[in-house]
Amino acid sequence: MLRQLALAAISLNRIADKIAATNALDLAAAIDTTAILQASAPIPGREARPQLVAPADLPARATHSPEGRAALIHALTHIELNAVDLALDIVWRFPGMPESFYRDWLRIAQEEAYHFSLLNAHLNSLGYSYGDFVAHNGLWEMAEKTSDDLLARLALVPRTLEARGLDASPPLRRKLAQAGDQAAAAILDIILRDEIGHVATGNYWYRHLCAERGLDPVAGYAALAERYGAPRLRGPFNLDARRAAGFDEAELAALQAPR
Ligand SMILES: [Fe+2]
Ligand SMILES: [Fe+2]
Repeated sequence: MLRQLALAAISLNRIADKIAATNALDLAAAIDTTAILQASAPIPGREARPQLVAPADLPARATHSPEGRAALIHALTHIELNAVDLALDIVWRFPGMPESFYRDWLRIAQEEAYHFSLLNAHLNSLGYSYGDFVAHNGLWEMAEKTSDDLLARLALVPRTLEARGLDASPPLRRKLAQAGDQAAAAILDIILRDEIGHVATGNYWYRHLCAERGLDPVAGYAALAERYGAPRLRGPFNLDARRAAGFDEAELAALQAPR
């Protein structure tokens, strides 16, 4: 039932409903690992706002003004809502994995819901609501591109886009603390701690599938990044966090090598 419930949760339009349904998932309940599920509504369910725009059309965010700081928190809030959808999506969409795979991503969906709730509450405390600024759809676009191949999904979502969050965290935390927003800095600490675990889970299952398919993880990643048009990652990299998340030295070297 849990995979069906993940599909039901991701389909919900109202954010409050989606977060509540995600939090209500009982991680100890039975899992049908083989069912091939079909979405009956557009995935993911969304509210009318925020308006989604191309990444190039996002306004610059200057953290020294209160509005700029709110726009930054809004962008992070948007990422976490997408992360809820991404974790739920991997659960319902891809059959044939061990039970522990689904339980891992369901737990991650709940952690993402927690991150969303922390940031959303902080955004409200700044006098804004989620939806007040425009946002981009880059995370979900990568989910759609990789909806037919779990290996590609793991390579490009947790191991690329989520891992990029590990790199982005320290400079962002510094900026927010310098702007005097200690509450936001404390939220980023919680998120970074949890995200190391999410990327580690991505690495674990990516290697599991590579081993099953007889692929070299480093060469396989390069091929998938090329085929699916993964964004080129730029340093500085958070190498400590990446090591803690299970990237090995060969992967870190490939990351830092000029293309
Ligand atoms: Fe998160
Ligand atoms: Fe995450």
